[in-house]
Amino acid sequence: MKTVINAAAALVFAVTISMSCQNRSTSADSASAVLENIATRTSIRQFTDTPLTESEIETLLKAGMAAPTAINYQPWHFIVVTDPEVRSSLVSGRVNTMYAQAPCLIVVCGEVNWIRRGRDGEEPVEMENGNWAVDCALAGENILLAAHALGLGGVWTACYPYPDRYELVKEKLGIPDKVMPLTVLALGHPAENPEPKDKWKPEKIHNERW
Ligand SMILES: Cc1cc2nc3c(=O)[nH]c(=O)nc-3n(C[C@H](O)[C@H](O)[C@H](O)COP(=O)(O)O)c2cc1C
Repeated sequence: MKTVINAAAALVFAVTISMSCQNRSTSADSASAVLENIATRTSIRQFTDTPLTESEIETLLKAGMAAPTAINYQPWHFIVVTDPEVRSSLVSGRVNTMYAQAPCLIVVCGEVNWIRRGRDGEEPVEMENGNWAVDCALAGENILLAAHALGLGGVWTACYPYPDRYELVKEKLGIPDKVMPLTVLALGHPAENPEPKDKWKPEKIHNERW
């Protein structure tokens, strides 16, 4: 049943991406497939050896780049790491040892500065982009949802704001100065089948005001 739902969600996702913004209508079936995909995603930390295909990786990257960003700046860069030696080099101590097992890592990085138009004809200026992490997080979640829709699994692992993690990732992957890795997404074919967590808490909702 889960496979059928995943396949339906994958189909809906692929069609949605290919139609781009030409057709905004959505049927009840496709809406429920998308909602089911969101509700059933859960972190996967155990993976089989089966690699991801190029087409699967491209689908995941397209999902990431479909996310919204502040002023549509798209500050993101995505580093796809499949080489087992490089993946293992990103493991530090006993933290996130799944990098060595997951056949594909996607490191979502952001340009921490942006170049904004100068006012009144002034030259464009480079300044801190306070939105880079939010933008990259939206891309990361899109990738995790797309992976789930394709019958794959994945987990978000923290990089920024932990210097011990992001400095290692920056060094090993040659990431430039003004670019920060936000997360390392570990992705692959699930070798575990955990139940999605029930996070619905009506007491978290405030109507009209707190
Ligand atoms: C900002 C952030 C950092 C996280 N860091 C890690 C991590 O370093 N290692 C890990 O195994 N999971 C990490 N996770 C995954 C969470 O543990 C997981 O999403 C959470 O327990 C909820 O479970 P679910 O994804 O199955 O809904 C992180 C998730 C987020 C959003």
